[in-house]
Amino acid sequence: MDHDLPNVPSTGKAPDGELGGILVTEEQIAVRVRELGAQITEDYAGKNPLLVAVLRGAYVFMADLARAIDLQVEVDFMAVSSYGNSTNSSGVVRILKDLDEDLEGRHVIVVEDIIDSGLTLSYLRRNLKNRSAASVEVCALLVREGRQKVDQDLAYVGFELPPDFVVGYGLDVSGKYRNLPFIAQFVGSA
Ligand code: IMP
Ligand code: MG
Repeated sequence: MDHDLPNVPSTGKAPDGELGGILVTEEQIAVRVRELGAQITEDYAGKNPLLVAVLRGAYVFMADLARAIDLQVEVDFMAVSSYGNSTNSSGVVRILKDLDEDLEGRHVIVVEDIIDSGLTLSYLRRNLKNRSAASVEVCALLVREGRQKVDQDLAYVGFELPPDFVVGYGLDVSGKYRNLPFIAQFVGSA
């Protein structure tokens, strides 16, 4: 995956040299999101899942995924911050914004942008399970290969990524680049 990367088109959104190459194109994302939506539609037939996006990175993925699911879904949002620095999560998580919905008896699908160490997710999973949800599954757009410190049971995964730090399609560096329509390597300084 680290050769012949498509160049980043000049969108006006990035200073020269900050983005290394496109790892996942807009078209590849669209195709995969449709597949994930179809799979969830099949798996949750007759149910009304609650999609829980983890802010802020998952907001773009959530919007597209929800529209690719042909069921009466509901959406809710949660914001968390993990203690530690920007590139290494510690696993200690603080809830900055909690859900508005009661989870009792609900089929919850946690929608995440990227699973790196998996520590944030394993905290979230434990937290949501304690609220009497009927089921809790995870739909992650990206999983970074070989980095997970905790074994994750991920029901739905968009793409597996090499170690590169990436931005776009919701993912940021210092708040920037969430509005790129593709996923690109970030090679600038954070
Ligand atoms: P984990 O707890 O180590 O799995 O951290 C996952 C979180 O770190 C994600 O939800 C992102 O917010 C952030 N993150 C990890 N890798 C990247 C990246 O390459 N780009 C942008 N954010 C990232
Ligand atoms: Mg995040």
